[in-house]
Amino acid sequence: MPDVKVMFPPDEVAKAVGRVAADIKRDYRDKNPLLVAILKSSFVFLADLVRALNMHLELDFARHFSYGRGVENSGKVRVIQRPATLVRGRDVIIVEDIVDTGLTLSLFLEALRRRKPASVKTCVLLEKPSRRKVAVPIDYLGFSVPDKFVVGYGLDYDEKFRYLPAICWLEDKSQEP
Ligand code: XMP
Ligand code: MG
Repeated sequence: MPDVKVMFPPDEVAKAVGRVAADIKRDYRDKNPLLVAILKSSFVFLADLVRALNMHLELDFARHFSYGRGVENSGKVRVIQRPATLVRGRDVIIVEDIVDTGLTLSLFLEALRRRKPASVKTCVLLEKPSRRKVAVPIDYLGFSVPDKFVVGYGLDYDEKFRYLPAICWLEDKSQEP
């Protein structure tokens, strides 16, 4: 079993979510944004985010995967479920757990833009700047993190550790490019 270390305890996570929510609230004061959360790992972040937002908004989900069961990025990204809500003309905010190479989010953004929303922004809990292969705009960000495999607060390793209230990392798991 890998060693789990705390990176950000729950109070720091809550502060970051509060900061992100305040920024979104300021920018979307007179709008009814459509939040499209990318399943599965964003579900804890999303639940805290909508409560911190405390405003009218619409919610939908998309699902894709780029990782297999382990820590290695397979390099293949497939959108496997698009949001059912009509995106055309809407102010969309994509909610994602983590941007690593940037491949997943950039492909998802491209697919969404083809459906002619009024605007699209991205809200990302974590990003690993040192791993970026594709430039992708991150409009609202929780934390930049070093190149470590992150779990907890919804993120998993092989479906494990999603329940951890802190954002943690696995000490003996490295990521090869
Ligand atoms: P890319 O490389 O396309 O990858 O930006 C984004 C997706 O990869 C997953 N990912 C992680 N999942 N801990 C995780 O639990 C990590 O450290 C990690 N890094 C990348 C994640 O699903 C994200 O959507
Ligand atoms: Mg994900």
